[in-house]
Amino acid sequence: MSLSHDFDVLIIGSGAAGLSLALHVADHAKVCVLSKNKIASGSTSWAQGGIAAVLDDRDSMASHIEDTINAGGGLCDYEAVKFVVSQGKEAINWLIKNGADFTKDHEPDKETIVEGDYHLTKEGGHSFRRVIHSADATGKEVQISLEKQVRKHPNITLFEHHMAVDLVSNGFRDPKRQKCIGAYILDSKRGEIDVFRAKATVLATGGASRAYLYTSNPDGSTGDGIAMAWRLGCRVANMEFNQFHPTCLYHPEARTFLLTEALRGEGAYLRLPNGKRFMERFDERGELAPRDIVAHAIDHEMKRLGADCLYLDISHKDGGFIKEHFPTIYKRCLKLGYDLTTDQIPIVPAAHYTCGGIMTDLKARTDIRNLYAIGETAHTGLHGANRMASNSLLECLVFANSGAKDILKKINKEQFDVEIKPWDESRVMDSDEEVVVSHNWNELRHFMWDYVGIVRTTRRLQRAARRIDMLASEIREYYSHFRISPDLLELRNLVTVADLIVHSAMQRTESRGLHYMLDFPKVDPEMDSRNTVLKPPRRPNNR
Ligand code: FAD
Ligand code: SIN
Repeated sequence: MSLSHDFDVLIIGSGAAGLSLALHVADHAKVCVLSKNKIASGSTSWAQGGIAAVLDDRDSMASHIEDTINAGGGLCDYEAVKFVVSQGKEAINWLIKNGADFTKDHEPDKETIVEGDYHLTKEGGHSFRRVIHSADATGKEVQISLEKQVRKHPNITLFEHHMAVDLVSNGFRDPKRQKCIGAYILDSKRGEIDVFRAKATVLATGGASRAYLYTSNPDGSTGDGIAMAWRLGCRVANMEFNQFHPTCLYHPEARTFLLTEALRGEGAYLRLPNGKRFMERFDERGELAPRDIVAHAIDHEMKRLGADCLYLDISHKDGGFIKEHFPTIYKRCLKLGYDLTTDQIPIVPAAHYTCGGIMTDLKARTDIRNLYAIGETAHTGLHGANRMASNSLLECLVFANSGAKDILKKINKEQFDVEIKPWDESRVMDSDEEVVVSHNWNELRHFMWDYVGIVRTTRRLQRAARRIDMLASEIREYYSHFRISPDLLELRNLVTVADLIVHSAMQRTESRGLHYMLDFPKVDPEMDSRNTVLKPPRRPNNR
């Protein structure tokens, strides 16, 4: 039997963004947080390098702003960058108050301005050491400390294995009158679709890098929030800018595993199979150039040499320092037969981060009233054409806070004035062809990698668009005949997101940041400051 719940605030997603917003509103509202898998199953738990913020007196906001804008290839929104950077210190202090434990410096220099003497590391594009971290497992520390607080809070209810299927609006098509009133949620343990009504609904569903064959991301990064918001009528922006992380472990039998950029921040080199360094040929900042440049250089050299992988080498650094600062990576590599203190490690780029997403303002508001989007699922204007390392967790924290403030101002005036009809399953049956889902999923991720990856051409994009059309119509048919499953929902969302990526990429007839087109190899100055904004057709939001 399906259930019905009412909450003041429904938060879909339990990573850094969702949990932070929950804690900011929970003293004044009845809150629920959903995760389609376990609470800690999002990208947050996997974050390694750290969180960027101006925490040292010798650093400055102007410098963090300038670095972010330089990395962003002319598409960052200055106001959004300033907004985020200016709240960096406050966000870090809030995390520390909530129990996050960051790596301390052995030789404190008394210049850091958060309470305590923290070790700050460096990553690509940053002109100063400003990345606070918890060894090489920063995300795990953030996730665990926030989760502990959330579990203790009497006003927060956590629902694991609850997957949002679709958002629900009050039925008005007129954007001035339309508002989001909740969502249909699949309880994947019971196999039932429940109704969750809320005065404010928050999408904190993470990114969409699982659209690609090789990715640093966990399985759940399927762009569900972006697809759901699009179906409800929200605009999305800059979906062509999917970031590829330059250094993921290359191992034919192991799942892709990230080798943090902080390794290069602490002096690691990139090498060709013959042992030669090559980054200086591509950028004077060498291994610490922004990510788009490094990933593109690696891809170029691999193709030029016909190599399966290149190498990352930190073996010239002190072994004790390596083991202390990168214990997780050290152990993982050792298990797979590589000693980080003596060996060079095989690497390849992999899909890592969705720079585009649901368009939001500085209060995390989307185009639809009472619907908010925060974290990787949102497009805030911070990242432009290429996100700078460690700016993502900061963005999650800052917009969770600003979204929470806006929600608290409004929810007292909202009422549960519209009923949501129970989910109708009377015309569907159990699927006897699950293979269609897994086959289509594989096909999608392969052609996205081959045709819409680090290097694109108009022809490849057209080829991808044709395949997406075919998959989309098969999935539509499948969706309307069979009972839904988490795999089907994820595939449906991934196809929508892939379509948005390809159509955004087709509109950008230039190369900029993470979007590199062989047939348009240069930046087109006419496209400076021009975001790719896609507007959905308006249609009903229920089955
Ligand atoms: P996530 O943490 O991904 O959480 C998404 C949540 O949404 C999950 O709980 C998931 O279950 C839930 N969800 C999704 N869809 C649904 C649905 N339909 N119904 C219900 N629940 C749903 N950034 C940095 O700033 N610094 C770093 O050092 C760093 N390192 C990284 C290393 C790796 C390996 C990866 C993958 C990313 C890294 N990033 C880093 C990026 C950063 O971790 C993410 O951008 C950030 O954690 C996203 O947080 P989030 O809260 O938006 O989403
Ligand atoms: C890394 O540690 O290299 C990832 C950092 C990030 O994605 O911001």
